[in-house]
Amino acid sequence: VERTLSIIKPDATKRNLTGKINAKFEEAGLRIVAQKRIKLTKAQAGEFYAVHKERPFFDELTDFMASGPVVVQVLEGDSAISKNREVMGATNPADAAPGTIRAEFAESVGENSVHGSDAPETAKEEISFFFAGLELVG
Ligand code: GTP
Ligand code: MG
Repeated sequence: VERTLSIIKPDATKRNLTGKINAKFEEAGLRIVAQKRIKLTKAQAGEFYAVHKERPFFDELTDFMASGPVVVQVLEGDSAISKNREVMGATNPADAAPGTIRAEFAESVGENSVHGSDAPETAKEEISFFFAGLELVG
């Protein structure tokens, strides 16, 4: 089994979609083995998304991620990283396959409801950014 870091973003927590999004994960066979609701500062959002700091949308992205509560979670399952990205759908909801979280819930390419790690190395780093080992209960 594999683990990946997921974030339910402020546009989704604001619209009370946490349960509907979690149902999508669980229906896909992903188990939520850790979860907490937090509010990031802009600096923390910038640290988390440091890989994007040269991108033109970095300031907008970090403002958005600090604009309201997020739910950070660890999902576990077979091929959890790729399975989660499948369930999420494409970054831009206009390109997301029907039935995916972003197709159903995302508002725009920026306010796109969820984040998911993109590789084993980033999953490991992102999980330890938010969680101590003791908080993960498989
Ligand atoms: P994450 O799971 O959030 O990392 O999404 P991703 O891997 O599908 O996309 P990527 O890593 O390329 O971009 C990270 C995040 O930056 C996206 O999820 C969007 O929230 C945001 N983003 C990407 N492109 C744009 C853009 O053109 N404009 C704005 N405002 N935000 C963008
Ligand atoms: Mg990404």
